[in-house]
Amino acid sequence: MSQPIASPVLAPAPPRHVAIIMDGNGRWAKARGLPRNLGHRQGVDAVREVVRTCRRLGIEYLTLYAFSSENWKRPESEVNGLMELLRLYIRRELDELARNDVCIRMIGDRSRLAPDIVELITEAEAKTQNNHTLTLVIALSYGGQDEIVEACRRLAEQVAAGKLSPQDITTTSFANHLQTAGIPDPDMIIRTSGEQRLSNFLIWQSAYSELIFVDKLWPDFSSQDLAAAVEEFQRRERRYGGSGE
Ligand code: FPP
Repeated sequence: MSQPIASPVLAPAPPRHVAIIMDGNGRWAKARGLPRNLGHRQGVDAVREVVRTCRRLGIEYLTLYAFSSENWKRPESEVNGLMELLRLYIRRELDELARNDVCIRMIGDRSRLAPDIVELITEAEAKTQNNHTLTLVIALSYGGQDEIVEACRRLAEQVAAGKLSPQDITTTSFANHLQTAGIPDPDMIIRTSGEQRLSNFLIWQSAYSELIFVDKLWPDFSSQDLAAAVEEFQRRERRYGGSGE
């Protein structure tokens, strides 16, 4: 009697889209008696490492929550320090990112950003628009509620102009009016620092995201931590409201 052929056990797929709430820079600095902006500066090193690791792990989209619409409430010196870090990051890394087939996109409210930052980002987006290995989405001056309200406003304008019937608004057409149009929803959202909330980050897109909370402060987050989060994701059963049968 012939033996049944053993079917190969397929490893669960890695997440296509990882989104990260990079929390804990301030506490990292405070624990060392340093100003908060040095914590953010150290956080940029973690950004660099995570971008490289995403490419290595075959992750196609990485969204980083760099600055929320609520972060404008922070002291001016901290806001300026964060904006300066973003300028430096784009200026210093753009060539390497472009060479490594990384596509850069920004989501958030550009009208509140300094004109030179908008210009830098627009240039980075244009220079990398045909790259595909990894899409790096930078959420800057971003708020999920604002994004949803803006999508509603645009749909309401189309209805008012007689170009759209309310019955034709669907979850798909709605999602196409968000700033993340064309980007798959995040499979996994990581938040560092032990806090367990979304803080207005991708609140529409996270409907079925796996949430992973890591007890490390963002500057201490390493490629090993990202790999461990991906393994945790691969152990989870995603049912999307179904029974899993
Ligand atoms: C939250 O920590 C972190 C931020 C508000 C900024 C994150 C920005 C960076 C890591 C650098 C710039 C980003 C890029 C993409 C180059 P927190 O300050 O709220 O920390 P705390 O909760 O300990 O005070």
